[in-house]
Amino acid sequence: MIIEINQACDLVIFGAKGDLSKRKLLPALYKLEKLNKIHKNTRIIGAGRADWNIQEYIKIAKTAIKSFLNEKIDDIIWKKFSTRLYFCNIDVYEKLHFFRLKKILNQKKNIIIYYCAMPPNTLHSIFIGLKNASLNPDSSRIILEKPLGVCLESSKKINNQISKYFTESQIFRIDHYLGKESILNLIALRFSNSLFFHNWNNEIIDHIQITVSEEVGIEGRWNYFNNTGQMKDMVQNHILQILTIIAMDQPESITSESIKAEKLKILRCLKSISNHNVNTHTVRGQYSSGTIKGKNVPSYIKEEDAKKNSQTETFVAIKVNIDNKKWFGVPFYLRTGKRLPHKYSEIVVFFKKIPVNLFKNSNLQEFQNKLILRLEPNENIKIEFLNKRPGLDQEYKLENSYLKSNYSKKKSINLIDAYERLLLESMRGIQSLFVSREEIEESWKWIDPIVEAWKKTKNNEIQLYKSGTWGPENSNLLLSRDNRVWYEFN
Ligand code: BG6
Repeated sequence: MIIEINQACDLVIFGAKGDLSKRKLLPALYKLEKLNKIHKNTRIIGAGRADWNIQEYIKIAKTAIKSFLNEKIDDIIWKKFSTRLYFCNIDVYEKLHFFRLKKILNQKKNIIIYYCAMPPNTLHSIFIGLKNASLNPDSSRIILEKPLGVCLESSKKINNQISKYFTESQIFRIDHYLGKESILNLIALRFSNSLFFHNWNNEIIDHIQITVSEEVGIEGRWNYFNNTGQMKDMVQNHILQILTIIAMDQPESITSESIKAEKLKILRCLKSISNHNVNTHTVRGQYSSGTIKGKNVPSYIKEEDAKKNSQTETFVAIKVNIDNKKWFGVPFYLRTGKRLPHKYSEIVVFFKKIPVNLFKNSNLQEFQNKLILRLEPNENIKIEFLNKRPGLDQEYKLENSYLKSNYSKKKSINLIDAYERLLLESMRGIQSLFVSREEIEESWKWIDPIVEAWKKTKNNEIQLYKSGTWGPENSNLLLSRDNRVWYEFN
């Protein structure tokens, strides 16, 4: 029997007015209510600079859930959910305001969880405000959003600051990609199938491509995004997490510590990219106006709140090498961007070509077997191979075929949104799907020199790409230099 370890919590959301809270957190919490996963005494306390009373917050929460959840709100569930909602008007720079929060929290003896959905530069004030009002008991937990800091130094600073008030067992550093069903399934696929297990190295694999493509632009977050860019918004966290899960060795066990230790080894082996190779190994772009699915969209510098001369990247492509025995000579090509033609995430593993061609009139020379792992949407796994075209031809004619498993269509699967899973894990007090301090700092160590090199290297000035296309032309060049092409979306 599985023991339900769900506990009564007070979940305080700093940044209750913000995009993350409305777009992701509130809808995920409502879904958990629907799944009956929230303890009956749990409360949700929005915290932010607004003069809202509880009724106003409830109204705002309902509008947000309606707009961002792809389903009709159920009246009975909503009624139950809305009684959990509270609001606290707090300016995190005002120490005394934390006593308003204390008043609400003192009404119950729940486990307190703080969700910091706020920019990195506000975090220190939150930590100090909580400490000052004695709101950091040993039983409390704190969730920190990505990116943690804007570089290695600032990330270390935040980690050092928080360590004065909270212990590691209280800190939950979130990367929502780690809560996605398809990312968790990568671990199962790699380490439960001998077919993949034994063929996962540079003897068999030619190269690996990882694409995380988005149709959306900045969605009203220009000021946040312009200080971050696609590199720090997506690569430093989500994409490096995918890369480490794909490349790591088998962990000693399936526990959080063993997996984190293996991921860390990969991060430490990433070959550095800096001034001398930044032009051959990276591409950065920014979207200009264009059309996506028939809709005209503005350029990045014409978005709401935008500044005209911004050089912030909305697209990144990188050729990554891993300096260890297993992956020597196997490039990993990463690309991610906003305002691309489709929203999808995919990993494509290209296997080496057959050394001797028996089928002279075929396309075997160009062909490579591929394992295509579609992470989103419609999670599925495909293997591409060649077979004989049936018929009476004198010679063998080969044609491409696929084996496909539609992971998301399995009846038994109820795909859970990443935030639902991670919020639930934080309420249960389980840290295994969260990222360690070491992983974050190691990622910054690799990212910082690239960002620095971009600033210094003139040739690598930002390239514009039309919205609704697959990024700047140099992204294709990154692969064509190695006689390769990006695997096309289909
Ligand atoms: C967030 C980024 O972490 O991930 C956003 O800040 C991005 O810019 C989002 O759009 C993508 O997440 P998902 O789950 O939609 O792929």
